Amino acid sequence: MKEFKRIGVLTSGGDAPGMNAAVRAVARVALTRGVEVMAIYRGYSGLIHGDIKPLAIRDVSNIINRGGTVLYSDRCPEFKTKEGMEKALETCRKFGIDGIVSLGGDGTFRGATDLTAHGIPCVGVPCTIDNDITSTDATIGFDTAMNTVVELIDKLRDTCESHARCNVVEVMGRGAGDIALNTAIASGATAVVVPEFPYDDNSICKKIAKAKALGKRNFIVIVSEGVGSEYAPALAKKIQAETGVETKFARLAHIVRGGNPTLRDRVLASKMGTYAAEELLRGNSNVVVCERKGKIITNDINYALILDRMYKKTLKDGDLDAFSAEDIDRMKREIAEKESYLLDLFTVANKINL
Ligand code: ADP
Ligand code: F6P
Repeated sequence: MKEFKRIGVLTSGGDAPGMNAAVRAVARVALTRGVEVMAIYRGYSGLIHGDIKPLAIRDVSNIINRGGTVLYSDRCPEFKTKEGMEKALETCRKFGIDGIVSLGGDGTFRGATDLTAHGIPCVGVPCTIDNDITSTDATIGFDTAMNTVVELIDKLRDTCESHARCNVVEVMGRGAGDIALNTAIASGATAVVVPEFPYDDNSICKKIAKAKALGKRNFIVIVSEGVGSEYAPALAKKIQAETGVETKFARLAHIVRGGNPTLRDRVLASKMGTYAAEELLRGNSNVVVCERKGKIITNDINYALILDRMYKKTLKDGDLDAFSAEDIDRMKREIAEKESYLLDLFTVANKINL
């Protein structure tokens, strides 16, 4: 079994609340086992440019509660090139880094699998507010983002109620409606629009007009950004024109990506970070740490990436060639479970938010 003397930890892609808690866990686990830990700043950019410093146990104190990432993040297209990879490998040699825990989304995992193939074993930890990594039930940052959305919508509802208004609120999520569907239930939104399910402006207007006639004064409509950036502002205009309810539009955007992580994200990040370091040190690499039905497990990174493509219906020719019939069955089962989880949320939101 490979003896690790020094590992690196990096955060890459879009930041997510809870990344710091995961970095802390990785560092503490490795350091207490006598393995040195190097902080790699700015994701794969830092690996290419040698922006690296050693971490001691107390260097990760007072970060479990902080949003953003103390290691900073970056999108680094150079890392995808042959030259970029060579520079990254040279940095690993220079700093004696013999394994890496990479925190981020699917792009970050692609980088991690490339590095593993070039002799630097990596383990991925899923961090994104979008919850769009199909191999895990929850990603780090998702819970905090949803709680922030709910807190902001509660404030909008106060003023909507005072003035008998509607507010159409666009929330982040990239192509995934997870944030929108959960927050629609939790904030009692009158309607929710996500890319996963059919939507229709006219029925939303009718629903609002009917509720108004029955005495309802405040109306919240949540739209996931995945349906396109022009949809929500246009819907706000249409609601006002069709129902006579004065309607405002709010794009919450990056505000839901910041802030202190919730308890759930701190715990998830601490569990995943611990597991990631332990798996790497016991020789398991090219895997992503996942949570399934409350249990922390690992999945092969390639399995996780192809599962996502299958879920998003973006499979390319040959993508499934390396997988067994059992793997493919498991992918289909996991996709069916994800679809059913979203459908349940959509059904509940529409049944009780009248
Ligand atoms: P996320 O990890 O949140 O999905 P990105 O897609 O921006 O965010 O990916 C983060 C970084 O991972 C990129 O800037 C790049 O350095 C690296 N990366 C992304 N895609 C690949 C790829 N196909 N091969 C190697 N590295 C990649
Ligand atoms: O993946 C996280 C996320 O915040 C998405 O919800 C959003 O679509 C995207 O990143 C925004 O990216 P950027 O920070 O590059 O504007």
